[in-house]
Amino acid sequence: MKIAILGTGYVGLTTGICLSEIGHYVTCIDINEQKIKNLQVGISPIYEPGLDELLVKNALEERLFFTSSFSEGLESAEIIIIAVGTPQRNDGAADLSYLEGAAVHIGTHIQPNTVVVIKSTVPVGTNEYIKDLIQKNCPKEISFEIVSNPEFLRQGSAIKDTMKADRIVIGSENEQAREKIKEMYKPLNVPFIMTNIRSAEMIKYASNAFLASKISYINEISNLCEAVGANVEDVAKGMGKDFRIGEAFLHAGIGYGGSCFPKDVKALLYTAKLNGVNFGFLNEVIAINDHQHELLVEKALKRFGSLAGKKIALLGLSFKPETDDMREAPSIKISRALLSLGAKVSAYDPVAIENAKHILGETIEYSSSVKEAVNNADAVFIVTEWNEFKELDLKSVTESMKNPIIFDGRNCILDSKLRDCGTVEYYPIGKPS
Ligand code: UGA
Repeated sequence: MKIAILGTGYVGLTTGICLSEIGHYVTCIDINEQKIKNLQVGISPIYEPGLDELLVKNALEERLFFTSSFSEGLESAEIIIIAVGTPQRNDGAADLSYLEGAAVHIGTHIQPNTVVVIKSTVPVGTNEYIKDLIQKNCPKEISFEIVSNPEFLRQGSAIKDTMKADRIVIGSENEQAREKIKEMYKPLNVPFIMTNIRSAEMIKYASNAFLASKISYINEISNLCEAVGANVEDVAKGMGKDFRIGEAFLHAGIGYGGSCFPKDVKALLYTAKLNGVNFGFLNEVIAINDHQHELLVEKALKRFGSLAGKKIALLGLSFKPETDDMREAPSIKISRALLSLGAKVSAYDPVAIENAKHILGETIEYSSSVKEAVNNADAVFIVTEWNEFKELDLKSVTESMKNPIIFDGRNCILDSKLRDCGTVEYYPIGKPS
């Protein structure tokens, strides 16, 4: 099939690469010309395991193309996939302006009988709104269909999540359009959920808000565990073995971040308010998460009394491992809180330092290794559970610190490692120190 994809962010680029990998001819379109020029020579704008190899392979096999020309990309497409961003507006709602821009271009270039797929995360009712907008921008009346097809990939495992998805949700009021999209994905051999447009749109928000709630729930349990002397890891294990609960997303820590959960929970809350539904539960999910972001600083304050003049080494900056994405990363709030309390911050991350510089500038020091970051530090904060930190040689880390104190925001240091090291003062989340 000939497919055009609008937007080469995480979702657009991964989808484009995976669809070409299963044999389709895919043209990815983006208004950012520099990004397109880089992609044309095999340079990816994001760090994502396995993506670069597939990008180069499919481009060389001439199934994957990149352009900033809408006419070139859209006019030969039988399926157009919109995967542009829907960032958060100040009032919590999703900002649809990129989507509206895409609708104008599609309206200008769309050919009869094309299926337009919205993959971007959009509030209920948006597919219908965008369909109208495309129609309004068509020079003449044209017949086309719209399909809601939300995406469930995670950054850091985007390729695997797309190629081996748990389910593919296809929402449309038109049988033929639904079947066409099912056909497109057929080689993936993944179960389909066929539904109407509004339910498909809702599945995406309901899923992300549920996962965020699961994290806030276990995080609040972890705070309770600390208060009563229980161990949240054992509690999560005991809960997760119940198949109705499940083991995933029960890792207590310093809260969720990233480009999806924070904005999607707020957008769902906004939709609820707009429709007169009191979904106050989600306010609690957000409040718990905001508090978790402050936890390491609270613990350090309790331990030191004052943080003025203390050197804190942050290990990890990205919102989670295997990505250089800094959006809504807990490290941002933690750094700012430490600075406001007079502490000095030296940070190390395997891949996110350049992106962190755009947000935190020169307010903190950036180190090129763990060794450099922890040198002479009063305490270490583990903020992101990169494998490199799980495998740390604790003896050599603590030897170069002023005080051998570690606040582990992701519970990623094994007990056996702590025992071998001996001298470390260790503060995990939700279990005895
Ligand atoms: C999330 C969803 O998992 C995807 O299904 C969805 O497609 C995506 O949002 C999206 O809407 O685009 P992502 O944000 O890439 O994916 O990352 P996750 O692996 O879900 O992690 C989100 C946050 O939750 C991270 O900050 C992570 O550290 C935190 N988390 C996750 C926990 O604190 N505890 C856990 O047990 C799991």
